[in-house]
Order: sequence, then C-alpha cells, then structure tokens
Amino acid sequence: MKKIVILISGRGSNMRSLLEAKLPCTIAAVISNKADAGGLEIAQQHGVKTAVVSHKDFSSREDFDAALAKEIDRHQPDLVVLAGFMRILTAGFVNHYGGRLINIHPSLLPAYTGVNTHERALADGVRIHGCTVHFVTAELDHGPIIVQAAVSVLPSDTVQSLSARVLQQEHHIFPQAIRWLCSKKLWLEKDGRVAGLHTSPIATPLISPALD
Ligand code: GAR
Repeated sequence: MKKIVILISGRGSNMRSLLEAKLPCTIAAVISNKADAGGLEIAQQHGVKTAVVSHKDFSSREDFDAALAKEIDRHQPDLVVLAGFMRILTAGFVNHYGGRLINIHPSLLPAYTGVNTHERALADGVRIHGCTVHFVTAELDHGPIIVQAAVSVLPSDTVQSLSARVLQQEHHIFPQAIRWLCSKKLWLEKDGRVAGLHTSPIATPLISPALD
C-alpha cells in the first residue's frame, strides 16, 4: 500500500476529508509548520502521527525546507500532499519530490494564484470560481492539473459564502485525486502530462447565471 504524508498550516479541513475518506493508502504522518495548527489535534484524534517543523526556527527558506524534507523522508512516502500548507517551497524541495508532490488551491488555476483568491474573484465579478488539485512545480500554484471543481458565483456572495461553497468542493475533489494516484489510475508522465484518466464523456456544463 502506498504511503502519504500530509502537510498543513491551519485548521485542516482538507486534511480531515482525506483522513475520513478511507483512501487506499497509509497516512504515515501529518506535519505542520505551525505548532498551533488546529489540524494537528484532528490528526491525533484519528490516530495519525504528527510533527511540527516551525519555519520560525530557521533563518532561510533553504534551511527550513531541508529540515522539513528530513522529517518527511523519515516516512519514505510515495506522495506528499499539501493540504492548506501556506509556505512557498524552494525549487530544491519541489524537485526532490518531483511528481510526488500534490497541492489543493482555492481557485480555477491558472486564474488567481497566490492568496485571497475568493476576494479577487468577487472583485473581478467572475461568474464561475472553484478549486484545483495539481502536481506542484517550482512555480507557485502552477503545475499539471489533476482535477478541478467549479461553482457559480452568486450576486449575494460574500467571501465567506463563496469560500465555504468552494471548500465543500475541495473536500470532494481532493480525496478523489489522492485515490486515483494511490490506485495508479492517474500519474504524471515524464513530459509533464497527467495521464491515465479517461474523463467521463457525460459532463454537465456549468453556465452561470443559469439561462432562461
Ligand atoms: C484551503 O482552502 C486550501 O485550498 C487553501 O487553504 C485552505 C486550507 O483550509 N490552500 C491554499 O491557499 C494554498 N495555496 P483547510 O486547512 O481547512 O484545509
């Protein structure tokens, strides 16, 4: 069975969705860069080993990433999963986990990389927003896309309501992506293509606002 390590920085709702999804893999550890991340307690309640590697203990990104990689590699994972891990990673770290590093991002990439994605989507008046699971490359919030979910943006939406609706979809697509990867139904080719999945031909288009 494949082994995964999950990295978090905060409340850990995506991590929880993975812990509860009965994935065909062993969750070897949850590691946070913040000692007060709420997700650590949730992981412990699920009987998963936790560790903290605080970025504050290191004077450079390189040193932090090296310490983080050392902690991760104790578990020899097949996949490293960023579930709300809010640190920019060095190219050295990313390359070390080439093809094995997965992230979830709260936008339809390549739109809205970085932070405050929901605020920016609302300010732009987009009608459709969403979330993306992708392989991580050295460029922030880029990398081969595995799966995306889209939601309508409603005229009444606030950052809170929109982020809640997107988060609900994150909790659907993230476990699915990890399941595909762990069961070898999906993988990254050497040329950077995501391969293996045959998208269902029956896909309902999302039109927002709905047509009369
Ligand atoms: C999620 O919305 C995730 O997509 C986002 O942080 C949130 C973490 O929530 N990640 C990023 O913005 C990474 N660029 P969670 O701790 O409840 O899973």
